[in-house]
Amino acid sequence: MSILVTGGLGFIGSHTTIELLEAGYDVVIIDNLSNSSKEIKNKIETITKKQVKTYYIDLLEKAALKQIFMRHHIESVIHFAGYKAVGESVGQPLKYYINNIVGTLNLCQVMDEFKVYHLVFSSSATVYGAQTKLPLTEESSVKAINPYGKTKLFIEEILKDVSNSNHKWKVLLFRYFNPVGAHPSGKIGEFQNGKQHSLIAAIFQVLTGELKYFKVFGGDYETKDGTCIRDYIHVDDLAKGHIAALKKIDDLDQVETFNLGTGHGYSVLEVIKTFERVLGRKIPYQIKERRPGDIAISYSDPTKANEKLNWKTEKTLVDMCTDVLRWEIKQNRLPELMKVSSINAM
Ligand code: WQD
Repeated sequence: MSILVTGGLGFIGSHTTIELLEAGYDVVIIDNLSNSSKEIKNKIETITKKQVKTYYIDLLEKAALKQIFMRHHIESVIHFAGYKAVGESVGQPLKYYINNIVGTLNLCQVMDEFKVYHLVFSSSATVYGAQTKLPLTEESSVKAINPYGKTKLFIEEILKDVSNSNHKWKVLLFRYFNPVGAHPSGKIGEFQNGKQHSLIAAIFQVLTGELKYFKVFGGDYETKDGTCIRDYIHVDDLAKGHIAALKKIDDLDQVETFNLGTGHGYSVLEVIKTFERVLGRKIPYQIKERRPGDIAISYSDPTKANEKLNWKTEKTLVDMCTDVLRWEIKQNRLPELMKVSSINAM
């Protein structure tokens, strides 16, 4: 019996595949390499010393997808595959709706045909939009404000209908907060393809010299230091949440939503200060205009996942900064910092 991981060479997918293999599961990956590379498969196999069957196909290729289900006895599917750049989604909504939604419809149809009814879906805290009542629980109201977030919300609704049509389905909807960090080995991390305009990507553009200083988008929010607050979660903690879910899936209701976050919020300036501590040097920044579409504060109440999945985050913001730094250095993106003894010792 195998676990099918769609988007298994992606950021969260690759870290989850490592945890699955190390937990003794047999894993089959499908990935269209739109935001990953074949090299990541080799890294997964080096880290785990296990082989992972990988098919470079797209969920839009339904015939090829069927072949996978014919060739392997799939017991559950963890579905990561999807485009995730918010800014890009605003400019190219159709690309996002076709890829994320039609891809998921194909996957569900083939699963149904092969009587595979366990599905864990990679959703996002983006579905909550701007909220006044915090922390965010799974009962908080939802209002996606960009095409990327809308694909996540629409897919959640589709999966609820699919699951309610046949009691054999078990669907877990995982709403990730802000995944950051990298595998402690430094061998895998978030693939920077220039499409992400995330806080972490921008910090590294400063460290590599691509940017002269970090632009803090807004310093006048109603927060402790005027900058936005987010619930940053280490990608390894996130990956472990999927293993916990597979172990509990039979005891859960047909469709269940879970917030995967730490329950703590950190401001942009707090993240910068933490990076400076780990790095042992200052990161130049300037306070600029707010970024359109940003919300002031977002952080989770992860109690439901803690209790029902018997899962809790363990890693700190320092771990996240240290691990992502190690990953960037091991890619030789930051050679001039190699002289920094504390980092070399990592
Ligand atoms: C975090 C904070 C920015 C860059 C995104 C996706 C969301 C989810 C998580 C997938 C914000 C500030 C950033 C910079 C800055 N991904 N910032 N200067 O927007 O919370 O969410 O990642 O599910 O879908 O939208 O993350 O890292 O872009 O921004 O000040 O150069 O950092 O304003 O407050 P975000 P982010």
